[in-house]
Amino acid sequence: MTPAETSAHPETPTPDGSDPRCIPHKMTGPLPVGDECLYPNYSAEEQDVWRTLYARMETLLPGRAADEYLTGLRALDLEHDRIPALADVSRKLERHTGWRIARTPGLLDAHDFFSYLANRVFPSTDYIRARSELDYTPAPDCFHDIFGHTPMIVHPRFADFYQKIGQAALNCRDAATEEGLTRIYWFTVEFGLIKNPAGLRIYGNGIISSSGETQHCLTDKVTKIPYSPERLAAQAYDIWHFQDPLFVIESFDQLENEFVRWSRERHLL
Ligand SMILES: [Fe+2]
Repeated sequence: MTPAETSAHPETPTPDGSDPRCIPHKMTGPLPVGDECLYPNYSAEEQDVWRTLYARMETLLPGRAADEYLTGLRALDLEHDRIPALADVSRKLERHTGWRIARTPGLLDAHDFFSYLANRVFPSTDYIRARSELDYTPAPDCFHDIFGHTPMIVHPRFADFYQKIGQAALNCRDAATEEGLTRIYWFTVEFGLIKNPAGLRIYGNGIISSSGETQHCLTDKVTKIPYSPERLAAQAYDIWHFQDPLFVIESFDQLENEFVRWSRERHLL
């Protein structure tokens, strides 16, 4: 899931506004959480889209995805052959870092979304893109949310950082700081790179759930800049094309520590 204002995926045609997945929901009541999330009656075609997406990324991720992401993916043991149940993933996640999953019907209003993060609950969709959208979707689907996001939340420092983003967002009182925070979210959670011992690797979920972005982002065509919250907050992004530049963290300790410093200086934490 992604805050409403950062919903689009790279290389996505501009939505015409008629797709209900692109319209942020303002919640009228609490979302179902954990075991309250019922397993949808997916069609054989929908299950096959999951299998296809999983198989494709499985061949692309070795040597590209961060060790920490791959460790999280193994720990969650997400099914290859069928769309995982949100309730099952939630239970596993809770054992690792105390995070749970809520089922959202689509994009959430930013305030609602960040409120869940602040309480260590990840709002996830449970619908999947159509086969015609294998390379992009106009809004997050469960492949993006489950396969892309949840393995990183297994990592204790990332999990704490993610909660702090939610807490800081709820304390934003001016538009400029809010925009800076949205950019930090975009260039870390969705499009972050990390220096692993074996080289540069991906931990951003927006990259990991897109085969095109995964193959493109580590090439010389993309400028890589060392992570600093000030630098990220000043960097505008274009949601309709491959991301350039991208930002590189040294470690998840650095990611969290620097974010906490930036937030405290602005009285957000
Ligand atoms: Fe996302």
